[in-house]
Parts: sequence; C-alpha cells; structure tokens
Amino acid sequence: MIPFKHGKIIDEKYFVNRTQEIARVSTLLASKINVTLLSPRRWGKSSLMKKVAEKMEKENKQIRFVFIDFFKTRDEKEFYELFATEVLKASYSKWEERITAAKVIFKQIIPKFQIGLDPANDFQVGLDWEEIEKNPDEILELPERISIHKGLQLIICLDEFQNIVHFNDSLGFQKKLRATWQHHDHCSYAIYGSKQHMMTAIFEDKSMPFYKFGELLFLSKIANDHWKKYIVAQFKKTGKKMSTTVAGKLADAVKNHPYFVQQLAASTWISTVDVCTDETLNEAIDQLILQYELVFSKEVDGVSNLQLNLLKAIIKGEKQLSSKSTIKKYKLSSSATVNRSKEALVQKEIIDTFRGSIEFLDPLFELWLKRYYFN
Ligand SMILES: Nc1ncnc2c1ncn2[C@@H]1O[C@H](COP(=O)(O)OP(=O)(O)OP(=O)(O)O)[C@@H](O)[C@H]1O
Ligand SMILES: [Mg+2]
Repeated sequence: MIPFKHGKIIDEKYFVNRTQEIARVSTLLASKINVTLLSPRRWGKSSLMKKVAEKMEKENKQIRFVFIDFFKTRDEKEFYELFATEVLKASYSKWEERITAAKVIFKQIIPKFQIGLDPANDFQVGLDWEEIEKNPDEILELPERISIHKGLQLIICLDEFQNIVHFNDSLGFQKKLRATWQHHDHCSYAIYGSKQHMMTAIFEDKSMPFYKFGELLFLSKIANDHWKKYIVAQFKKTGKKMSTTVAGKLADAVKNHPYFVQQLAASTWISTVDVCTDETLNEAIDQLILQYELVFSKEVDGVSNLQLNLLKAIIKGEKQLSSKSTIKKYKLSSSATVNRSKEALVQKEIIDTFRGSIEFLDPLFELWLKRYYFN
C-alpha cells in the first residue's frame, strides 16, 4: 500500500509534526479562549483540528468537540439545523436524551426530530424558519446551556468559515452569531478556513462582527526537516529506500506544501523499485507535472498577458513587484496594474497572499510554469 496520503483530513499514520501548533491550540481552547486559524488551502487546518480534538477529548472526558462544516450549509436555516443537530449529537450519546434536552432548552422553538435506523448517527433536527427568525438565540445558546447543564466543555469547530460571506445578509448573520457567542464562557469556538482575502475581511477588519473574536493564528507549512524524516521512514517501512537528501529535495520541489508533498511522495514511491535516486525523483516530478499539463494550459489560457507577466516576476523571486525596475523588466505596466493583476490572480485562485508573501495555491503549477512554460 502507498504509505502517503493526500486528500482531506488525514489520520495518525500520515500525520507529520505540528507539535507546537497542537500544544498552542489546545492550551487556548482549554482556557476557553476562542481560536481563529488561517492558512491558504490544503495546508492542514482541518487535519490539525481533528488531531487537537482527539488529544483533548482523550485527556479530558468533559471536553466534547462539535464539527460544523460551512460547505454543508447554504443558508441560515440549514446552518441552524446542522448546528442544533451536531451540538445535541456530541453532547448526548442516546437519542432519547437529545430529545429530552432539546425540550428543556427550547422555549419558543419547536424542533422536529428525524431518526433513522441507526438513531445514534441518523439523528437530525428540523426547524421552522419563522420560529428561528424570532428566536435565533435559542439555538445559538445551545452549547453554553448544555455545557453548564451537563458540566461539559463543548468546543465548536466551524470549518470553511469563509463560506459565510455567501449567505443572504451575511453581515446580519455574523452579527447575530457574534452577539450571542461572545457571552459564552463555558464553551469555546474554533473558527478556520482558507481564502485569505475573505477570511481577512471577516476577522481583521475592525468594523466587522468577528473582529477580535478569538486569538488569530496563522498556520504555516511544515518544515523541510520534518518532511525528510517522515518520507524516509515511510519508504523504509515499505521496504524501499530514499536518502535524507533526496527526501529533502522532494519536499523542496513543492515548497513543503503539505498536500503536495504527500502527493509527490506517493508518485515517487510508485516510481521507485527499491532505491529512489535523484533521477527517480526528477522523473516522478516530471510525470506528475505532465499529468496535469492540460489543466495547467487551460489555466494559462484564462490569464491575461499582464497577469502572466506578474506570475513570471513572482516565480523569478522578485520581492518588490511594484518597483519601477520590476515593472519595466517584466512589462507590468504600472503599480496600479500590478495590484489589479494580483487581485485577479487571487480571485482565480492561482495565488493567495498570506502574511505578506505570495503563495501559489498549487506548487506543481508553479513548477510547470518554471520548467516548461517560461522556459
Ligand atoms: N500535519 C500533516 N502531516 C502530513 N500531511 C498533512 C498534514 N496536514 C495536512 N497534510 C496534507 O494536506 C492535505 C490537506 O489537509 P487538510 O484538508 O487538513 O487541509 P486544510 O487546510 O483543511 O485544507 P482546505 O483549506 O482545503 O480545507 C492532507 O490530506 C494531507 O495530505
Ligand atoms: Mg479544511
């Protein structure tokens, strides 16, 4: 079996480092301080939070994590239903207890319960929109009420939070959430998501409801040293060999980007018969890039010449993109144009700006541009 994994949330076997991040996030949450975790796509936010949850729930039986994915809700009503469902599920293992608790807590709202063949898992709360509109607090208060009532500490994780901007009257909705949640001190909230421009707008703008809601943490990539050890060990475990130097180059080729290191390591592992040399690695890189060539060509077709010139400047490592000399050298027109091109590339999800630097969302695309397109 391939000893590497890329995709969504990963489990223990494939999890690399993050020791400091786990300690930091757990300490904050245990002290009931809300956490806001930001990073570009696929750097490992969801995997990290799952790991934190496992650790904290194991260490303290009063702690229960509730995971809410904003990708699964398209409007406010769906959100409230999912929220009530997941909070009740995490707090009470028996469906009878969930219903009893809901009846005690809800005063104005009359929830409907849907229970399937496997009631512990197939359990859903249905709500009436008119009732919610009048009393949204009753639902938003659930974690605090239950935490107090049952002597628990619920930790509510809100994943893909940037999606909140697509809700109708998003600002009004955010205000409601914040107004209620900021008074909670028996439960806590961990909010995370990608798309820096959207998350920044939600959390770093003083006029926005979620400004200073929690401790703002930026997740970084995983250092090359950790990758090296992991890759070498995974090869060894499966009877193949790779030197630390080659492993370091592998992670380096995709800029230590968690998802892509795992992906490239998997293809390299497949290409390796017994020992992975520099050559094996380079072939694996080329193979992987060429596999996506069609996608990358299409991507380039959708980009203007000015934007392409800017990508070139970024790839060449230019730091002062708006400086006169860079503008002249790469034909970027003007500093206003540089900003506009940058925005467009962010919108197209080719790059993301993160903590002041520019990152390609897909380091393979970056590599393809460098090796094939601009060459
Ligand atoms: N700590 C880690 N160790 C090893 N690989 C990791 C780690 N974190 C993330 N990855 C790799 O990155 C992939 C994506 O991780 P994850 O889905 O947790 O990221 P994310 O930041 O939540 O992404 P998105 O922004 O798309 O929600 C994982 O499937 C795995 O291959
Ligand atoms: Mg995620």
